[in-house]
Amino acid sequence: MDNFKYINGSLYAEEVPVEQIVAAVGTPTYIYSRQTLQTHYRRIAESFSPLHPMICYSIKSCGNISILRELAGWGSGFDVVSGGELFRALQAGGRPAAVVFAGVGKSDAEINEALDAGILLFNIESEQEFQNINRLCGLRNITANAALRVNPDVASAGTHQKTLTGKKETKFGIDIDRAAAFYRHAAAASHLKLTGLHLHIGSPIKSAAPYVDAITKALALIDELARENIVVDTLDIGGGFAAFYEGNEAPSAADYAAAIVPLLAGRSLKIILEPGRSISCNAGILVSRVAYTKQGGSKRFVIADAAMNDLIRPTLYESYHFIWPVNPGAELMPPNRTAALRTPHDQCVDVVGPVCESGDYLAKDRFLPPLKRGDLLAIFSAGAYGFAMSSQYNARPRAAEVLVTGKTWSIIRRRETYHDLIAAEL
Ligand code: LLP
Repeated sequence: MDNFKYINGSLYAEEVPVEQIVAAVGTPTYIYSRQTLQTHYRRIAESFSPLHPMICYSIKSCGNISILRELAGWGSGFDVVSGGELFRALQAGGRPAAVVFAGVGKSDAEINEALDAGILLFNIESEQEFQNINRLCGLRNITANAALRVNPDVASAGTHQKTLTGKKETKFGIDIDRAAAFYRHAAAASHLKLTGLHLHIGSPIKSAAPYVDAITKALALIDELARENIVVDTLDIGGGFAAFYEGNEAPSAADYAAAIVPLLAGRSLKIILEPGRSISCNAGILVSRVAYTKQGGSKRFVIADAAMNDLIRPTLYESYHFIWPVNPGAELMPPNRTAALRTPHDQCVDVVGPVCESGDYLAKDRFLPPLKRGDLLAIFSAGAYGFAMSSQYNARPRAAEVLVTGKTWSIIRRRETYHDLIAAEL
């Protein structure tokens, strides 16, 4: 699952003691394992290799340019949703010809930046957006390629309401029953070629079945269009593969592939995948120091120096992140990472941060070994949508980011300073 392991009672990131890193960098700090990133990237690449897919890592999950540089080096392209993410991809040495651009509200400036760069594909989300990109290409007298994001109206049990996208009545894409008409109209456009179909049904999708439903519907549409001589040669199946938060709940890349590859093998479609979380989630932990402990009514609080501004997922999605001391001692090494884990000395606590909101918590009613001021905590499975969704709320400088490779580590984002908080206001 990852390369964060307890050895003799202390947590290591690959071969580096976590305590050694935070002694130099402080807390809170995100620590990423290059090996874990690579393992998850490779598993997807290998499992889907019969389809020769283009893997476009979804930058929004974890967009540090040092991480993007590694991925580009392994052959990954990028899924971007803003001019800023495109900028990150290019700064990291990403190939423009392996960039796909999604998002319901692309501005003219962002579209022009993508045209300047020469990206592979615009993933179109509405009629007006299609007309606008066609117009902007016309002004340059060039032709660009597009895929239509189709909303297949599939159910995906277990995905939080706020991250569900494949049902009707979400803002994403075009309903599948309107899609054929969209392709027919688009055929008349002179500067934007609509030759692709894009799906992204939500995140995380904890089984392969919704993909099978969505792809089956997409293939029926592609066949219907082919009978009218409208050629769709690219299928982008989006992201959404699950990661490991609580033990082994996520299907493996091979499980997803076993269901998806047979549907697409033998078709001459160019396949694109946009995994984010399944690559970055388990590759990162957030390390925090216990500032204080206290009792509040019947509740025991552990007040950490990381807060909702550093990791907003628990309060935003009620999501579970396994938390354990960095140095629990040899007798308290966690046998697994499930919510049901109990050790003889455990106390039931809320792990909260210093932000002035009751919603500022990292864990509620969690059984943890006794903790005291100064102890270090590791918050696991934090690589995806962790730092990426962090903010400076309460004027808290954002955390540092560190990348570990074997025995070596480097700061890939320095901790922000107070001056960074006001730099854009001067
Ligand atoms: N492609 C598109 C068009 C997307 O919108 C997304 C994620 C992805 C790919 C990557 O999905 P992934 O493989 O990472 O599941 N903040 C939420 C997740 C929001 C996902 C948004 N779109 C969370 O922390 O769970």
